[in-house]
Amino acid sequence: MFRSNSLRIIFLTLVILFVASVSLAAEEVVKEKKLDGKDLFKSHCKTCHAEDADAGEYTPMTLIEEQWEEFFDELWVETHGEVVCPKDEKKTVTDMWSKEMLKAVRKFCVDHAADSEQPMTCG
Ligand code: HEC
Repeated sequence: MFRSNSLRIIFLTLVILFVASVSLAAEEVVKEKKLDGKDLFKSHCKTCHAEDADAGEYTPMTLIEEQWEEFFDELWVETHGEVVCPKDEKKTVTDMWSKEMLKAVRKFCVDHAADSEQPMTCG
């Protein structure tokens, strides 16, 4: 009796662990999906780069693919490392961006650059 009860407990524990890990994995996928480059551009770049902005208007079509690649690979920290974040004055723009966020927005800009197959503004 004791023996079968403990087997049952072990079995139930395994089931619970399995279900928990599957749902955690599913959550990861959702998180990845949420990093939409277009949304990020709208919510985090347009704030400073809308039409008539002091920092200049930028949409993916402002630059060509090569220029976006150079911007994200080489100029990002140089040009935004000391720009104060509008939402939190103790932080700079570069502090606010994780690697994953930058990767997503970089892809959006390159995919829709002026010389890409699907150029796109971000209005
Ligand atoms: C808090 C405001 C702010 C945010 C947010 C911001 N920028 Fe900027 N950006 C600036 C300023 C300020 C400059 C420098 C303008 C200057 O020196 O004339 C700049 C310059 C640029 C330049 C020109 C760089 C160069 O080589 O001179 C590009 C391209 C650019 N930003 C794209 C972006 C993109 C893409 C994002 C989002 C990932 C972004 N910016 C987010 C303020 C911002």
